[in-house]
Amino acid sequence: MATYPTNTKKRLSPTVYYLLTGIALSWPGLVATGRLLPLWRTGETDFALSLATIHDLVLAFMLSVAFGVLYQIVPIAFRAPAMPRHVFRWHLPVHVAAVTTMIVGFLTQRFAIVGVGGSALFVNMVVYFGWLLQSYFRAKNRTPVHRQLGLPFLALWSVVLIGIYQALFPGKVTDSVLMTHVMVGGFAFWGGLVLILSYKLLPMFAISHGYRASLARTTWLYFAGMLMLFANVWGLDHVSLVVQALARIVGGILMLLGLLSFGVDMTRVMFARKRLRIVRPVMNAVVSIGGFIVGQIGILLAWEMRDASWLFASIYAYVFGGLIPLMFSFMQKIVPFLWFEYRFSKRPERKTAPLIDDMVPRRTAQTGYWVYMAGVAMGVASMLGFSHAWFDWLSAGCLAAGSLILFFALQRVLRIGGHRPDDDLE
Ligand code: HEM
Repeated sequence: MATYPTNTKKRLSPTVYYLLTGIALSWPGLVATGRLLPLWRTGETDFALSLATIHDLVLAFMLSVAFGVLYQIVPIAFRAPAMPRHVFRWHLPVHVAAVTTMIVGFLTQRFAIVGVGGSALFVNMVVYFGWLLQSYFRAKNRTPVHRQLGLPFLALWSVVLIGIYQALFPGKVTDSVLMTHVMVGGFAFWGGLVLILSYKLLPMFAISHGYRASLARTTWLYFAGMLMLFANVWGLDHVSLVVQALARIVGGILMLLGLLSFGVDMTRVMFARKRLRIVRPVMNAVVSIGGFIVGQIGILLAWEMRDASWLFASIYAYVFGGLIPLMFSFMQKIVPFLWFEYRFSKRPERKTAPLIDDMVPRRTAQTGYWVYMAGVAMGVASMLGFSHAWFDWLSAGCLAAGSLILFFALQRVLRIGGHRPDDDLE
């Protein structure tokens, strides 16, 4: 079996390139929400600009970030061999090209092009996973986070395959297929991945030890509930309406309990931190975890009560006020850590290097985060009906400006100390 170099410190981690590329690709999608908010509010999502925007945000932005984080977290957190560096050199450009093709397909309403882009994304992802899983299966530190990651991995593969099916056979797409695509993508993959990774990242960044938490309990409740909701979506014509309603109610309750269990565990993590002071990225993460939980609770309650009036506002809150800002928060810890590793570790300058928490320009990053969150608050208000065209565009402008400011804050980190002196290998 091949062996990989584990000392990657002389090169800047590929994760940084994935994260910055991802943020830059979020801008068109965030701006487009100004046009989309009034339509999303009415439940209209299935048209060219909306589909292009959704897939820009979930695939070009968020999935690039996820690939970047997995690149680094699997070897570091689970003591596994490092992923070879060449993977990012071809995987990231092909991923961006594939998603761009899909977006062109959505905008021009030619699903065959979407299918071509989606298939390229799939093949590229299979090869990436070939390398990732070699590292994953050789991990020495098989923690609960390591074990549970298999669930969102499986969900990612499923959502991409269902997406390709929808693109290539649009005539055969029923409501159940579409709902499955949205639920597997939104809950099983994004919800599951972020929830599971938070059990590793939040304690690591808050420096917490000795807390009681059960990831197994949370994932069991969350995924079991989701499976029952799938049973409800697929109708199961031969079972009675009572059984269907029961599946919906019990599934919803189990998922709610899963979210509650997650919230309790994250609170325990915060109470078990070693330092009294909570650094700002961690504070941002806590706020975003709140958005992640509240948004999903809103979705589940609206679903149970068959009340569309706040279903879409809740979906918006979950994605824009939970998933996305949580990524922004963790990035403010990940990028300086990786820059420190590259620029200062094993170098004499290490002694005079700034602390990791002081590397991201605080005022810029916090301005970015809160401008973005102001955009989210306006977006939620608009989705609930407090809307004017200028208000929607203001919301979209804040989302995009916040993301842009954060990008520059992170990019400034990469200038601290200049190039690594013995870095001529590049
Ligand atoms: C995590 C990844 C993904 C998520 C969260 C996601 C989410 C969504 C959402 C929310 C919709 C709109 C549903 C509606 O209008 O009600 C949608 C539609 C669609 N998605 Fe995805 N998607 C993902 C990945 C993909 C991939 C990889 C493809 C590959 C081709 C794809 C292809 C499609 C197609 C073709 C439609 C339109 C279906 C139709 O209207 O008939 N999606 N997706």
